[in-house]
Amino acid sequence: MEIAPSILSADFANLAKDIKQCELAKVKILHIDVMDGNFVPNITIGPVVISAIRRQSKLIFDTHLMINSPDKYVEAFVKAGSDWITFHIEAVKNPFSLIKKIRSLGAKPGISINPFTSLRKISRYLDMVDLVLVMSVNPGFGGQKFISDVLPKIETLKKEKRNFKISVDGGINFDTISAVAAAGADIAVAGNAVFGNCGNIVKNIKKLYEFSKI
Ligand code: DX5
Ligand code: ZN
Repeated sequence: MEIAPSILSADFANLAKDIKQCELAKVKILHIDVMDGNFVPNITIGPVVISAIRRQSKLIFDTHLMINSPDKYVEAFVKAGSDWITFHIEAVKNPFSLIKKIRSLGAKPGISINPFTSLRKISRYLDMVDLVLVMSVNPGFGGQKFISDVLPKIETLKKEKRNFKISVDGGINFDTISAVAAAGADIAVAGNAVFGNCGNIVKNIKKLYEFSKI
């Protein structure tokens, strides 16, 4: 399983430095949380920050859009350097055209579902996306408690004949990561567990990899 550090919990005054630490710990994917104060009650970053860190890093940029009307903004996020663009099923009216748009812009499309949204809502899009992001907290903030009710969703997705990766996001730490791995996730997103805990980023990532072994 891959660990994708979520920069939401990084030191925003020293983003490039924190990202370097992630690279030293050999991660391949950086998770970037975009919030609009509308779809979720919090506001984070936009394309300008992504293009600034793009110049500093060759990691895969996994951009998680927690915004309404993502179709209006995906082009700007791809131009800024996002490799993967994930939108929320709860935020869009026409997922088909959005998925096609993201792909035509040259990025990999992903679809995300909130903890209490049924998998049925995304079933018809599964063969069109490269990533399914299962939220294990209600989106909006880092450092929340893992909702274990989502584990069966990961198991169900794992059984699909599929081309998409399963990523899980929210509340993943040294205690919860093994359940996520056992359920069949390909990627675990972690914010606080990477950038918190006294801030030894390399050590935290290595420990997460260690605890994810099943
Ligand atoms: C929550 C974000 C997550 C968050 C994870 O809305 O989508 O990516 O940063 O943070 P932790 O790992 O601290 O729960
Ligand atoms: Zn996220």
